[in-house]
Amino acid sequence: MSTQEDDDNDYIALDGYQIFYEMQGRKFNTLNQTYMLPADDDEIQRFALFHRLLKFVFCGNSFPGLIQETLQSGEHRVLDVGTGKGDWAVELCDMFPSVHVTGVDLVPIQYQEVPPNCLFEIWDANAHDLPYEDGHFDLVHARAVHTGIRDYPHFLCEAGRILRPGGLILLIEPDLRQWANNKPEPKFKHGAGPRGWFTFWETYRRCLFLIGIDVTVPQRLKELLEETNMFEQIDEYEGEIPVGFYPRKKALLTVGQLQWMAYDLFLPALKPMFLSVLGLPEASVDQIIEGAQHDLYYTRFKLSSRLRIAYARRRPN
Ligand SMILES: C[S@@+](CC[C@H](N)C(=O)[O-])C[C@H]1O[C@@H](n2cnc3c(N)ncnc32)[C@H](O)[C@@H]1O
Repeated sequence: MSTQEDDDNDYIALDGYQIFYEMQGRKFNTLNQTYMLPADDDEIQRFALFHRLLKFVFCGNSFPGLIQETLQSGEHRVLDVGTGKGDWAVELCDMFPSVHVTGVDLVPIQYQEVPPNCLFEIWDANAHDLPYEDGHFDLVHARAVHTGIRDYPHFLCEAGRILRPGGLILLIEPDLRQWANNKPEPKFKHGAGPRGWFTFWETYRRCLFLIGIDVTVPQRLKELLEETNMFEQIDEYEGEIPVGFYPRKKALLTVGQLQWMAYDLFLPALKPMFLSVLGLPEASVDQIIEGAQHDLYYTRFKLSSRLRIAYARRRPN
């Protein structure tokens, strides 16, 4: 579909269709106006940090027991929605050579050399009908992608349609609210708490709301799966993710460091979104980001975030 013009992922489709556009020195996808995070090297580095962080959360393994159980023997098909660079998809292919993995994304930023059982495709998960037959997949995985999906309940129905009965869906989404000293944002009154940090996150949620994204999706994954009536054995977990260097335990400290580094990349990545969605003057946007950076670098508070994880199996028809 596309040719690679240079080493910097600067793709232009053969028909002249522009895959990326630039704003504020960052690169964005042209396929989906809803997803307003960049698609460039800094962002790919952030995905890599997130992928490493999740391995620690899952005790060194990207594939929890339920996945291994689902893909145990025989040929299976897996869909990774919003695959990013493709780390999860490629690792799954290496670990399960008889499993065929399709990773889809809005932009062709994936690895160029991949195992033979790995395929990357470009399409938008907002499409009304996902381009697969009923019951085609054994596993659908969607990680950190909900901010690009306008109608998440419909997306879950489509995921249910393309899963075989008994097939597994695994959803992982970072909560868009933040915590300090183990207390959520609303518990801090009258300007208390890490104000710069909280203001940044409020601004992000306001932007997503204005774009038409339901910011409550991460905390409602189980409920949303239940509402489809297509899944059973639905379960959810909440992972507390420290942000920074305060944890005493070694593994948690590593998670905190990785999350800190990922957020350090995330804060400036939102500048183009804040500017274009809110129409604020650049100086105000810089102030919001600098306020959050100040709290990330110097706060006395123990910052933390939450990761929402939900699993379910497709009900027999
Ligand atoms: C935050 S990254 C996560 C990447 C990967 N899933 C991971 O966990 O490391 C989100 C990815 O989802 C893709 N994405 C967002 N909305 C999408 C949509 N509607 N359809 C397909 N891909 C989408 C983005 O282009 C981006 O690469």
